[in-house]
Amino acid sequence: METAQGNVIYLNHPLIKHKITCMRDKNTGTKEFNTLVSEVAMLEAYEALGDLETELVEVETPLMKTMQPVISGKKLVIVPILRAGLGMVEGVRTLVPAARIGHIGLYRDPETHEPHAYYNKLPDGIEKRTALIVDPMLATGGSACDAVRFVKEAGGKKIKFMCIVAAPEGIERLTREHPDVQVYVGALDDGLNANKYILPGLGDAGDRIFGTK
Ligand code: PRP
Ligand code: URA
Repeated sequence: METAQGNVIYLNHPLIKHKITCMRDKNTGTKEFNTLVSEVAMLEAYEALGDLETELVEVETPLMKTMQPVISGKKLVIVPILRAGLGMVEGVRTLVPAARIGHIGLYRDPETHEPHAYYNKLPDGIEKRTALIVDPMLATGGSACDAVRFVKEAGGKKIKFMCIVAAPEGIERLTREHPDVQVYVGALDDGLNANKYILPGLGDAGDRIFGTK
């Protein structure tokens, strides 16, 4: 249920498609929108974390002791780009409850559309973990590129970026600036408008998640 073009993986599962269509609807309210963001994040993470390392632990069944695989939470750090990325955290955390969480605060300047950093808190030992950066929107790609750079500066080596809706412009920039990063995309849209919003898109993800407009 996925197609790959180089390091970009398009998640084509009908459940993901259906839920993103519901998110696009301007009549979808804040509560339902949040639920959908979380559900899509969970479904995407199921695919994106397919190569997460496991370790063997001893477990005793009703019949015998046996060594069986478990995911070590210490192997994953989820990094939401504030604000909108916060909406995706719970969905991923449901699958990997022991994952660490880092935060990167970025906002796009409304005139220049360039990202500005206002917060950066990443867990120790990030070099030993897979970093899954999450943000619903990949528009120009400026925010994603800066977030990847911050994770690399903190020592991150294995980095994945997961979004819900992407513009071709953002994918082009992110893969050009960070060709080593795997990019997971829920829906590939047509492009950007003059204000660098994704078309058809779903509007301002942060505002829709937090009900600020
Ligand atoms: C949105 C979105 C991304 C960014 C994408 O955040 O959540 O972080 O824009 O645009 P880009 O690819 O052109 O950088 P925004 O700056 O609106 O901040 P918010 O999440 O706090 O609303
Ligand atoms: N940020 C959003 O929230 N939506 C877009 O379409 C582009 C950037």
